[in-house]
Amino acid sequence: MAAAVSAAVSLPSSKSTSFPTRTSIISPEKINFNKVPLYYRNVSGGSRVVPIRAQVSTEAPAKVEKISKKQDEDVVVNKFRPKEPYVGRCLLNTKITGDDAPGETWHMVFSTEGEVPYREGQSIGVIADGVDANGKPHKLRLYSIASSALGDFGDSKTVSLCVKRLVYTNDKGEEVKGVCSNFLCDLKPGAEVKITGPVGKEMLMPKDPNATVIMLATGTGIAPFRSFLWKMFFEKHEDYKFNGLAWLFLGVPTSSSLLYKEEFEKMKEKAPENFRLDFAVSREQTNEKGEKMYIQTRMAQYAEELWGLLKKDNTFIYMCGLKGMEQGIDDIMSSLAARDGIDWAEYKKQLKKAEQWNVEVY
Ligand SMILES: Cc1cc2nc3c(=O)[nH]c(=O)nc-3n(C[C@H](O)[C@H](O)[C@H](O)COP(=O)(O)OP(=O)(O)OC[C@H]3O[C@@H](n4cnc5c(N)ncnc54)[C@H](O)[C@@H]3O)c2cc1C
Ligand SMILES: NC(=O)c1ccc[n+]([C@@H]2O[C@H](COP(=O)([O-])OP(=O)(O)OC[C@H]3O[C@@H](n4cnc5c(N)ncnc54)[C@H](OP(=O)(O)O)[C@@H]3O)[C@@H](O)[C@H]2O)c1
Repeated sequence: MAAAVSAAVSLPSSKSTSFPTRTSIISPEKINFNKVPLYYRNVSGGSRVVPIRAQVSTEAPAKVEKISKKQDEDVVVNKFRPKEPYVGRCLLNTKITGDDAPGETWHMVFSTEGEVPYREGQSIGVIADGVDANGKPHKLRLYSIASSALGDFGDSKTVSLCVKRLVYTNDKGEEVKGVCSNFLCDLKPGAEVKITGPVGKEMLMPKDPNATVIMLATGTGIAPFRSFLWKMFFEKHEDYKFNGLAWLFLGVPTSSSLLYKEEFEKMKEKAPENFRLDFAVSREQTNEKGEKMYIQTRMAQYAEELWGLLKKDNTFIYMCGLKGMEQGIDDIMSSLAARDGIDWAEYKKQLKKAEQWNVEVY
């Protein structure tokens, strides 16, 4: 039986601003994290209480015809190729990890003038300035887009990334800096940046606004999920109103490396019935057995519930970040499936075919 649950959230006051097109967004407000202002959009205005209705279903949903996200002909890929990239400008670049975090991660916004028409879940390529050891232009590197299609400023004219600065020590004991990540993290506002793409259909959002969307991220793997979650909770669209369950698991090394934490907490305040948020802070937390808290360790604490959700037709799992996480997640899924006499490898194949299991790890 399905039951309707009502929740109320109190939204802060608005300053009027007009925004274009199909989406009505009323109040861009500043959100501060790590002393750096970013902007998020309020879905409504005024100091008033806005009711949010959430359908909480206690039984399997009725079968509905699924609309494939990957067959969507309106999704643009490879508009810009390396030979003729789009040249945007950096509008903002800000470190979003604390000074004591292991490594630096930056959030950056580039202008596109609406010329790079991406969807939530896609990636872009970036070609760093300069040449490689052979005197040839650098090859492009891919980055998951961290903003919704409307962009951080709500005008569909920007694209944002979340980039970890790669620095490591090689066999000779020398410090090596990754080419493109360092180029990006060092970009100053006003600087030009060569963009290719957009690319990728694996991580596109499900079309069903009532879906359960389980998002599993390690580190910068959070990028596509920030993009999903802005669309779900910070924006108002005529043709899309999220009314399902979004459940984010984010794994990072330290609490000072928790990415976009304040934004996600804001979303939770706005839609407590529709958003669940769990962090796995690997170097600070352990489970009851004293094991390091990886994302799969946190998930194991909700094993039964997750398995129950996975058996539903309208549950979609997305995984993004470190390659190593995939095996860990497979391991817990295998043990859960085995309890029901199900072969996980086979079951996963079916989920993939139905676009319910979506992985982009590196
Ligand atoms: C689809 C996709 C999406 C991605 N999205 C993001 C994203 O959103 N954010 C993000 O930060 N990254 C993302 N990446 C990774 C990104 O593309 C780059 O690979 C990353 O930024 C490093 O590039 P670089 O040019 O700085 O390093 P490079 O100069 O290319 O150096 C990388 C090379 O250094 C070597 N290396 C790296 N670490 C070590 C080590 N510890 N010891 C020895 N050798 C090492 C390896 O040979 C590696 O190939 C994504 C990758 C893919 C495929
Ligand atoms: N679409 C994509 O393919 C895509 C998109 C974005 C990013 N990426 C890639 O994703 C990676 C993210 O790295 P980051 O530096 O941003 O992350 P990070 O800040 O180092 O965080 C990664 C977290 O994952 C933990 N971890 C390590 N091994 C794990 C395992 N086997 N299973 C589960 N968790 C594990 C780490 O724990 P400990 O360090 O404590 O062990 C840490 O808590 C980068 O390699 C980036 O290039 C890929």
